[in-house]
Amino acid sequence: MERTLIAKLNAHKGAEVTIQGWIDVKRDQGKMAFFDFRDRSGKVQGVVFGKPEVLEVAKTTREECVVEITGIVNARPEKMINAGIQNGDIELEITGIKVLNEAAVLPFPINEDTRTIDESIRLKYRYLDLRNERMQKNIRVRHSIQKFVRDYLTEQDFVEVETPLLSAPTPEGSRSFVVPSRLSPGTFYSLPQSPQQYKQLLMVGGFERYFQFARCMRDEDTRGDRQPEFTQLDMELSFVKEEDVMSLNEAILIELVKKFYPEKRIQQVPFPRMTYHEAMEKYGNDRPDIREDKNDPNLLAFLWVTDFPAFERTGEDNVDGTGEWTFTHNPFARPKDECLADFLAEKNIEGIISTQYDITLNGFEIGGGSIRNHKSEWQRKTFEIMGYDAARIESNFGHMLTALDFGAPPHGGIAWGFDRLVMLLENEPNIREVIAFAKTGEGRDLMMDAPANVSAQQMKELGIKM
Ligand code: AMO
Repeated sequence: MERTLIAKLNAHKGAEVTIQGWIDVKRDQGKMAFFDFRDRSGKVQGVVFGKPEVLEVAKTTREECVVEITGIVNARPEKMINAGIQNGDIELEITGIKVLNEAAVLPFPINEDTRTIDESIRLKYRYLDLRNERMQKNIRVRHSIQKFVRDYLTEQDFVEVETPLLSAPTPEGSRSFVVPSRLSPGTFYSLPQSPQQYKQLLMVGGFERYFQFARCMRDEDTRGDRQPEFTQLDMELSFVKEEDVMSLNEAILIELVKKFYPEKRIQQVPFPRMTYHEAMEKYGNDRPDIREDKNDPNLLAFLWVTDFPAFERTGEDNVDGTGEWTFTHNPFARPKDECLADFLAEKNIEGIISTQYDITLNGFEIGGGSIRNHKSEWQRKTFEIMGYDAARIESNFGHMLTALDFGAPPHGGIAWGFDRLVMLLENEPNIREVIAFAKTGEGRDLMMDAPANVSAQQMKELGIKM
């Protein structure tokens, strides 16, 4: 018999059907056995009664076995109806059980909130944790939001482009993961911390509107809202000003909250704005939590933070040839128009304000971007202020400067921390709850056991000695 999804059983009242899935709960009562069955679409109760040969098979099963069940979809008597739960008005009268696969005893129960379980065990057996209802919901809603954003941006003429993971190391990239090259022993690729340079080069390449759900890798200390490998919704647009990028992103965020979280309230629309200066003065940080009620799980307080200083002091002596200044966010952000003269004259450096804008939500930075230097002269100036000499600029960023000289349009963009956004929308305490295969705070993958040693033979082929 053809498989019926559990969510569709209601349409088959009185008929015999076949379902396939897992035993979610089993209650053996001697002459009867009660079950909850589960598939991707939901749960249903079933009962074995008065069928000794079926009961015999039922007794051999345990929770999380994979089974094929045939049974008659019975309407429950009025007083047995379990209103408010899926399939609460029906019950399967089981006529046959086929065990498709056995299940060993689980290391932890998955049919209750797994957040109370030791997380290292959850991560080691992540595939079991993923069976949990809450985890299923988180990963599915993540997909739905991605699809919504993809459709929204596609509708607005954006093109999704995949950019390389194997890229060039930059000396600034102390937080980069590197990958040895076998074919050029002694040299390394670097995994991208973000697709920043590629997306700008796509603007030079004439796409005008790019986006990508981009995997980014950063070798930093991990926290609740950070993973060494995370996902950005990355975008870049040509012929835009700050206002264009901000209003587009604001519109998407409002739409998606409306669509997926009708129970939630955005505190203020349009999103309020605050300068970096004001945030630091009033709240002592640049991602203030401005919620009126911090105990309201359905309150979303978005805030734009703008007017960041472009440069900050490194606090270092010029030991390695670098200057006393470094960029605050992104070396590609252009200064505001009114600061361009000072910038080009290298005057009043601490007073130069950048076009950088950050978007924060309930005290978390969920995104950031800027308008970029689309003229090589400006881009070069940023590096000069940072104390780079001509040779260093050329060797590290020559390709960018060359590209800007071939008719680069004015452009700017933003990237959302996608995991962080979903975490906040789902009221989860950390981003691991919305990432299917997350790593520990120490950056370990406990399921695959990574990072790990590689064989001496492989090291030799890579030309690496420990
Ligand atoms: P930025 O470095 O601010 O900007 O990153 C954008 C957003 O990504 C999220 N984020 C992280 N999320 C999880 N784990 C991490 N380790 C992590 N690091 C950052 C944050 C952050 O706001 N190329 C620029 C964007 C641009 O200018 O367009 C960039 O990467 O939510």
